[in-house]
Amino acid sequence: MQVFRSVSQFQDHCLNLRCSGQITALVPTMGFFHEGHLSLMRWARDNADTVLVSLFVNPAQFSPGEDLDRYPRDLERDQDLAREAGVDVLFTPRVDDVYTKDHDTWVDVPGLSTFLCGQSRPHFFRGVCTVVCKLFNMALPHKAVFGQKDWQQMVVITRMARDLNLPVQIVGRPTVREEDGLAMSSRNAYLTRNERNEAAHIHAGLQKVQEWANDGERQSSKLKALLEEYYVQNVPSGRIDYVHFVHPWELTPMDRVADQVLVAVAMHVGSARLIDNMIVQG
Ligand code: PAJ
Repeated sequence: MQVFRSVSQFQDHCLNLRCSGQITALVPTMGFFHEGHLSLMRWARDNADTVLVSLFVNPAQFSPGEDLDRYPRDLERDQDLAREAGVDVLFTPRVDDVYTKDHDTWVDVPGLSTFLCGQSRPHFFRGVCTVVCKLFNMALPHKAVFGQKDWQQMVVITRMARDLNLPVQIVGRPTVREEDGLAMSSRNAYLTRNERNEAAHIHAGLQKVQEWANDGERQSSKLKALLEEYYVQNVPSGRIDYVHFVHPWELTPMDRVADQVLVAVAMHVGSARLIDNMIVQG
């Protein structure tokens, strides 16, 4: 596995790969790898000639007061895990190489970015889109792989790629979970043992929604109230940021669970903000 720190050297290398006919897949990450990240790398391994992974804790997607400074990092361990997953190139750029002092260009997908996570994190998707667009221009990948745990992020990036005619195929992959259902996340490292146990109910609650829908309750407002009550009872250390029932690709509210509805949840548990989602079938 080759490791690049310099943006220009990484870009030269990727341009050569592309010109030599290699099919490349990029997995953008912020590091502190877990099975969720590794599943994306393995998919890339199986579906491309060359696997590129970026590891960059992107300051532009953190608001002041968020966890940028304490975001977990372990480069040595990440390098070993990436190598074991069959990654060919690991790209770990410096902040000032990605964002020069007078950086002044931003990519925004406002229609899809203002609801759900965008409501409580107003800078977030602008930061994500900008860095992902820059990474696409640096890596020039044929494919880019994203996790469905961050469903809104996947939808926003898909729209960005379409709107800007970026020559890259966006691939979404299923959420990888702990045995008790908790979605894997680098931020799970912030949880105490008690919070960790309670956090498993975030996913269990989503599964309940499908059960309630199967039993005949199709009104989103009623299901939302039931789910919020479930969380009050089962995640007492939690504080709900939002529970929304939306169209999976438009992200607009849906009053009824008709065909497919995305149930998206964000919750503060202890000092961690955790998100999860599930497609509920009507
Ligand atoms: P990060 O949180 O490190 O996640 C990197 C990728 O791993 C994202 O596509 C995310 O959806 C995916 N992922 C995280 N947890 C997962 C899980 N449990 N199962 C499956 N996939 C999972 O998302 C980001 O970084 C950043 O916003 C980034 C896109 C890199 C831009 O800075």
